[in-house]
Amino acid sequence: MFDEVGYWSEIKLEIIRRYATEYTRILRAQGRFRFFYVDGFASSGMHFSKTQNLLIPGSPLIALDVEPPFDRHFLVELDAEKHHALSGLIAAHPRGNRCRLFLGDCNDVLPMTVFPEIIYERFERALCLRDPYGLDLNWEVIRDAGQSKAIEVFLNFPVMDMNRNALWHEPDKVPSRMRARMTRYWGDDSWRSAAYVPAPDLFGPREQKATNEVIAEAFRKRLRAVPRSFDSR
Ligand SMILES: C[S@@+](CC[C@H](N)C(=O)[O-])C[C@H]1O[C@@H](n2cnc3c(N)ncnc32)[C@H](O)[C@@H]1O
Repeated sequence: MFDEVGYWSEIKLEIIRRYATEYTRILRAQGRFRFFYVDGFASSGMHFSKTQNLLIPGSPLIALDVEPPFDRHFLVELDAEKHHALSGLIAAHPRGNRCRLFLGDCNDVLPMTVFPEIIYERFERALCLRDPYGLDLNWEVIRDAGQSKAIEVFLNFPVMDMNRNALWHEPDKVPSRMRARMTRYWGDDSWRSAAYVPAPDLFGPREQKATNEVIAEAFRKRLRAVPRSFDSR
């Protein structure tokens, strides 16, 4: 039930710890905010480290131990066994009563139940981690968080799943189901022109897959271009 994780995941967890620490320090220093932690892909709370050969805390427990602490935590996990393991760890944690756990799909739970609890006008703010294995996050959920102006998104961009399943060197051979997953994540099919660039050769016009960096930058630009529906505030 605990995932085995390697070197890269441990680096990711360290980045989350440091980022969350700076986030709470900055908000606490401003005095007037209540600040929350939202984990859309919470997992089981612990992982087995292949490099250290021991159990290490996952993102929800790391966030619970941050100083100064978050006021509340919202944790969503789709897998029942992992959710059960996480519930046990949270119940035993001294700050466990700050947490609300949800068993379900974060694409439903976040917009319907969690985001409405985080209100800009009440000086509530949240750091929302989205750390999926793959293309399991719908664009609308990222967009809604940004438009709330209260929720900061920390996104793990699932480049491995994209490359393995959707961004093949021969795009016409990609199954339509995988193209649809990519479109759900990206929000429309503009990923197609971001991910493939013209590369004419002796045999005529051709397309070549763009680098990971170019694709990530295109997604960043797309996020910046999201209309701010609450700009009148
Ligand atoms: C990469 S792991 C998250 C690891 C965690 N952030 C950590 O660092 O400890 C991804 C988790 O998301 C869960 N998951 C996948 N799809 C989901 C969805 N639609 N909603 C909620 N959880 C999901 C998986 O069961 C898995 O436990």
